[in-house]
Amino acid sequence: MAGDTLTRPKDLLDFSAYGRKELEALLHLAERLKEERYRGEDLRGKVLALLFEKPSLRTRTTLEVAMVHLGGHAVYLDQKQVGIGEREPVRDVAKNLERFVDGIAARVFRHETVEALAQHARIPVVNALSDRAHPLQTLADLLTLKEVFGGLEGLEVAWVGDGNNVLASLLEAAPLVGLKVRVATPKGYEPDPALVKRAGAFLTHDPKEAAFRAHALYTDVWTSMGQEAEREKRLKDFRGFQVNGELLALLHPQGIFLHCLPAHYGEETTEEAVHGSQSRVFDQAENRLHTAKAVLLTLLK
Ligand code: CP
Ligand code: NVA
Repeated sequence: MAGDTLTRPKDLLDFSAYGRKELEALLHLAERLKEERYRGEDLRGKVLALLFEKPSLRTRTTLEVAMVHLGGHAVYLDQKQVGIGEREPVRDVAKNLERFVDGIAARVFRHETVEALAQHARIPVVNALSDRAHPLQTLADLLTLKEVFGGLEGLEVAWVGDGNNVLASLLEAAPLVGLKVRVATPKGYEPDPALVKRAGAFLTHDPKEAAFRAHALYTDVWTSMGQEAEREKRLKDFRGFQVNGELLALLHPQGIFLHCLPAHYGEETTEEAVHGSQSRVFDQAENRLHTAKAVLLTLLK
């Protein structure tokens, strides 16, 4: 499997080092890997360390399975064991891991931690979710939209909910692929204005205005990992922002529903929305695997 013709940024921390060409190459490679249900020996003998401070179903599993499909191996390192920044400093963890493994995927509370890992380790580092960004999720989102609509240019995606890490990565990638994003958040939960500006995104506090005739409606939890202490306040502040049948009825006739999962049912979405006919949520989850394979092939081969 040729990953050789791709330009290779060293890391995937966010999309700031990526241009249209690199992003499209990743998506194209993921499409090919998916079509071929690819399994091979490209990463034979290569080992990826998964350094996770937070729980995960999709990210951990898809990265581990991707390494198996590519002939390599993954080692899961629980924060309770490693104690990154507690038992020993981030720099020391980086300078040890680079001697043992070929790449690091890190899920961290503070984005600065994954940046410090990339700064100090001479091996590729992938952000497997931080408080600021979730680029692996965005790749799966883009692949899903591309499959449903045949392309990305000019699609209108409505984001309803929290201006969080998942939205930030979507906004970073959107202008690279010609995606238009409309964002509806409660007051005080808007995304970084610089990202909104660069993406040319439309901002509102009215979920209906964002959803009207959009090609996709995307939401995520109101309380992200690490924000649990704010849950009661957030439940009040986000009232009226739930994705349900009424909101989904406003979409474009072919409009779809996306959610990165896990879902907090009864909060940001109903069960009917996730399991209903407009939902592409589980295709989106499956695409985490194919896009993870594309990332690992590109960075580790
Ligand atoms: N969407 C996502 O990243 O899921 P996990 O938290 O289960 O990895
Ligand atoms: N915004 C959520 C995404 C989970 C995949 C969180 O950070 O917890």
